[in-house]
Amino acid sequence: MKSVLELISEEVKEAFKAAGYDENLGNVSVSNRPDLCEYQCNGAMAGAKLYHKAPIMIAGEVAEKLAGSKIFEKVEAVAPGFLNMDIKGEWLAEYVAEEAGEDKFGLETLKKKKVIVDYGGPNVAKPLHVGHLRSAVIGESVKRICRYMGHDAIGDIHLGDWGLQMGLIISEVKERQPDLPYFDENYTGEYPKEAPFTISELEEIYPTASAKSKEDAAFKEKAMEATFKLQSGVRGYRALWDHIIRISVADLKRNYANLKVDFDLWKGESDVHDIIPGMVEYMKEGGYAHLDDGALVVDVKEETDTKEMPPCMILKSDGASLYNTTDLATIMDRVKNYNPDQIIYLTDKRQNLYFEQVFRCARKTKLVKPETELVHIGFGTVNGKDGKPFKTREGGVMRLEYLISDIEERMYERISENREMNEAEAKEIAKTVGLAAIKYGDLSNQASKDYIFDVDKFISSEGNTGPYILYTIVRIKSILKKYEEMGGSVADVSFKTPDNASSKDLMKELTGFAPMMKTAYDEVAPHKICAYIYGLSNAFNSFYHETRILAEEDEEKKKGYIALLLLTKDILETCIDILGFDAPDRM
Ligand code: ARG
Repeated sequence: MKSVLELISEEVKEAFKAAGYDENLGNVSVSNRPDLCEYQCNGAMAGAKLYHKAPIMIAGEVAEKLAGSKIFEKVEAVAPGFLNMDIKGEWLAEYVAEEAGEDKFGLETLKKKKVIVDYGGPNVAKPLHVGHLRSAVIGESVKRICRYMGHDAIGDIHLGDWGLQMGLIISEVKERQPDLPYFDENYTGEYPKEAPFTISELEEIYPTASAKSKEDAAFKEKAMEATFKLQSGVRGYRALWDHIIRISVADLKRNYANLKVDFDLWKGESDVHDIIPGMVEYMKEGGYAHLDDGALVVDVKEETDTKEMPPCMILKSDGASLYNTTDLATIMDRVKNYNPDQIIYLTDKRQNLYFEQVFRCARKTKLVKPETELVHIGFGTVNGKDGKPFKTREGGVMRLEYLISDIEERMYERISENREMNEAEAKEIAKTVGLAAIKYGDLSNQASKDYIFDVDKFISSEGNTGPYILYTIVRIKSILKKYEEMGGSVADVSFKTPDNASSKDLMKELTGFAPMMKTAYDEVAPHKICAYIYGLSNAFNSFYHETRILAEEDEEKKKGYIALLLLTKDILETCIDILGFDAPDRM
């Protein structure tokens, strides 16, 4: 379905043409002076130079051609040469009615692409902390945007499950429990089903080992050796590793489920271990990789580069693979198993250069087809109110789990203050609203920017916040419920010509859904969805405050209002689902 702006522009272009001017002058935009008009066209200003004519004359001639238009209620040529336009309420209502009847509110979905979204990216055996929030939240939304646009999008968590941290854990376990069968090279029996540690022990083992390796060179040596043994398939080490993964993944699953983030694939760096040697061979044979100071590298510098572009290292001089190597092998694996048209990665923006190198290397070595799109979305840091990376009150790393439970707790207090509600329901609602507060607080910021994690602001029910959007939805739900209780049927309503400014404004906002979604997709920008639903919620709430909806005596008018409520609710609910949270029935 064509957008309102497209339809209006077509009409104005026709008028330019009919008046003898280039039709391309007829582009229309939403007015930047809503006090003067709804839409504007500045084409006559540009036309003045082309036709050596006063802009106001051109604008006047075009306005005349638009006099009988079915779309416009008012077209004015104003000095020095602008065209100011208002559209007819009747035409707008017809447009909105058509939009409401269309699949996806008139959004044209795209030719199906296979998209892999690589997000989350936690390292096993380490608790999720606030730094993991953005990748999970933005990635989930990006995946959902792709799906809404009609693509086949696969989310892959890409676990960090194969590096030195595994060797560190294994070495530390060995120091603490040297008699375990995993460390007995002569042991041939079955290994225990139960892991020799719990998740909370594991979460303590890793940081202890990591700290130890920084002070104790011998321990670090052992950890490197253990990593090597694990990677070369030593049976006991593999068995211990299996325990670490199983326990850690179970915990990660629980945490991501709490965030309503779900992955189709739980693959990790370890999954491509076996294909690395083949890939290295391929890169050598193809003449792509060469030795540089003992290390195997692929040059990725291009002549047009203005910034430093170091080569992409494939193997270190000791033959060990690197973070790059696994990412490249993962690309190879994904091409083979899924044949994606696009891969989107979400990480901290400090990895911008890294991904640039990896993408160039993948293209140069022809791991991907030239048309395969490789996209990296680098996001900014979550800061505290002091503008520094968010920390606990004691200055430690903030665990994601605690961050979420803190917000839930605050929401719970708020809800119990305002209302009589049984505890279980209040807890449930606090969870739903708390999650919306966090996710919206994050997603409403442009991804590449740092933002301040301001709990007081995020949980506020006023302003540009998740709870405000949810309040709006809940308000609509409750009016619709009352309407039905009063004997009305939501199946039997239809749009009416708007009878005041706020209902017309609301309708105009409602027409913005499809073009907004297209932009959010094209720019991989969930914050555009937030900005849109904030505007839509504001328009709805103005309408609500100025209109007696259920008390309206004219039944037909009332049906028109209910139709507006239904569409507003549908669009808001669709949007929050794409953002990755839900609304409760009451709050
Ligand atoms: N595990 C990595 C880290 O903690 C993030 C992985 C991001 N994804 C990727 N394909 N490199 O930094």
